[in-house]
Amino acid sequence: QDDDDQLIIDAGQKEFGATSCESCGMVYSADSPEDQFQHNQFHQRFLDSIKFVGWKKERVVAEFWDGKIILVMPGDPKYALKKAEEVRRVADNELGFQQVALNCPTQAKTYLFINNERLVVGCLIAQNIRQAYRVLAVPQTPKDMTREDFMEHHRAWCCSTSPENAMCGVSRIWVFSLARRKGIASRLLDTVRCTFIYGSPLTKDEIAFSDPTPDGKQFATQYCDT
Ligand code: ACO
Ligand code: ZN
Repeated sequence: QDDDDQLIIDAGQKEFGATSCESCGMVYSADSPEDQFQHNQFHQRFLDSIKFVGWKKERVVAEFWDGKIILVMPGDPKYALKKAEEVRRVADNELGFQQVALNCPTQAKTYLFINNERLVVGCLIAQNIRQAYRVLAVPQTPKDMTREDFMEHHRAWCCSTSPENAMCGVSRIWVFSLARRKGIASRLLDTVRCTFIYGSPLTKDEIAFSDPTPDGKQFATQYCDT
């Protein structure tokens, strides 16, 4: 019985030919020359972008058993700003932000999570904000929705940010696909809260997420709740 099931699964995969690259994480069809070409194009460029060679001066703001977080600030040496920019492009590419410049690049702080293999596997860009844009895309409420349903739905969209108090806006948060669900985004945010304003840790309410994606909403809802 199990063998039969396995055969069916194998046949299905063979037909579809979906492969996930173990180094860059791209999912592509190994049977399609066009897909293979696209993967080849992407693979090296991606790995070069997230490679971290180490710097003479690194602003290490947190250390863990599986990596460290460094902070890049405006005015840092060119090589540091260049790496921050490279990683932002990788994130934007995945977020579908087609190379939009930051609102205020001069005051953006970039937090990079570097793993023990010297890869940048996480990136968070934070900016000062006086007022957060609340995520107000509140969906039409079907008439038969209970209050609990509504609150649950509503909460998922608004997170628990109280926009009037928010002091720190997260304009990008990205974790390498092969490094997700290991608490990297949570640790980036914890670190932002401790270091964004020197000597004055921020509460979760003082952080706002701009324009969250579905992944971002799931994460933010979970993070803000705990
Ligand atoms: N679906 C459901 N729950 C999730 C998800 C998800 N995709 N991601 C995180 N969570 C929840 C889980 O409860 C998780 O805890 P668990 O793993 O113990 O269940 C908890 O949040 C903590 O997650 P982390 O491990 O800290 O998050 P991770 O390092 O995986 O990064 C992120 C999350 C940044 C959203 C990642 O999935 C990602 O980079 N996605 C693609 C880019 C993206 O959409 N970024 C957000 C854009 S919004 C913005 O930039 C303002
Ligand atoms: Zn690859």
